[in-house]
Amino acid sequence: MAAKTPVRILGLETSCDETAAAVVEDGGKILSNVIATQADLHAKYGGVFPEMASRQHIRTIHAVVEQALQQAHLALENIDAIAVTQGPGLPGSLVVGVNYAKGLALASGLPLLGINHLEAHIYSAWLASPEQDSVLPEPQFPLLALLVSGGHTELDLMTDHLTYRQLGATRDDAAGEAFDKVARLLHLPYPGGPSIQKAASDGNPQAYRFPRARLEGEWDFSFSGLKTAVLRMVRQIEQTPGRLPVEDLAASFQTAVVDVLVSKTILAAQKCQAREILVAGGVSANRALREAFVSQKSFPVHIPPLSLCTDNAAMVACAGYYHFINGRRDTLDFDVKPNWRLVKTEL
Ligand SMILES: Nc1ncnc2c1ncn2[C@@H]1O[C@H](COP(=O)(O)OP(=O)(O)OP(=O)(O)O)[C@@H](O)[C@H]1O
Ligand SMILES: [Mg+2]
Repeated sequence: MAAKTPVRILGLETSCDETAAAVVEDGGKILSNVIATQADLHAKYGGVFPEMASRQHIRTIHAVVEQALQQAHLALENIDAIAVTQGPGLPGSLVVGVNYAKGLALASGLPLLGINHLEAHIYSAWLASPEQDSVLPEPQFPLLALLVSGGHTELDLMTDHLTYRQLGATRDDAAGEAFDKVARLLHLPYPGGPSIQKAASDGNPQAYRFPRARLEGEWDFSFSGLKTAVLRMVRQIEQTPGRLPVEDLAASFQTAVVDVLVSKTILAAQKCQAREILVAGGVSANRALREAFVSQKSFPVHIPPLSLCTDNAAMVACAGYYHFINGRRDTLDFDVKPNWRLVKTEL
């Protein structure tokens, strides 16, 4: 893959409840990364309210893109292509970003690329950390990617850039979804992942022995049994007067999730003879998960810095860069893909 240097991609992300724009140079250097979160707007509903999310994107997107260009000290003339999240995500939210990007591409004459949000999460591992000066070594192929986000949990083998084979995926809830649902059971605020992590830091992870669905011989995941086990335990405890031991329940739940994710990923990496492991998606922000991956000695592990784990547009621009230098260009008539899977066929 050869390209003129530098190549600057403007990324746009509106798949859920973050309106984001970023400029990334040569697929790794973040020149700007602006995120307008709607978390406060949705918190009172305990989850994302789709119509409200799309309307908030409409209000915010222009200012967010302007800010991303300003912070990068660039005008559209200095950009080489626009990359926008095309799916998966909330249809009404995706439409806002895609249509805005199409308008921008039409007005500027810049090439446009529709990007898979899951691929973008994986590519966050190629971004230089904004929190560190040093440039970390790039991930090496073959690479086993564990994608753990709000809507997805899957193991994908990457044999090269933009090349994936799915080994397994969740059969029911995604890991992030399990964190969010269990947080609600424990009366913890939205978003659930950070709330569980916070509560768990004061709890005993061995207090309750929750099930680990290992699905022997398979690379799939299942978290609904674990969620139900927490629900049963909460109901049982609530039968007797007293305070719910939220911290112990959160810590025991978190440990069960981390245990399954880490052990299965390492086994799959061994089976596929992967050189390295990559962990990405919102749940990769979880401290216990990060510590467990960092402390294992079987494989080098790439985990994006905290600021790049949850939805952002730098990762979209980064994935867009690899498509751009690969020669891909999209026409302006593409639709959003709310259920777009990263890999169509399984092993
Ligand atoms: N520290 C944390 N510990 C555990 N989970 C976390 C943490 N921080 C965020 N999460 C979880 O990550 C999820 C959000 O991640 P992300 O933004 O990638 O999801 P999404 O974009 O909604 O879904 P997808 O990427 O699958 O389309 C939420 O479920 C949230 O609870
Ligand atoms: Mg996401």
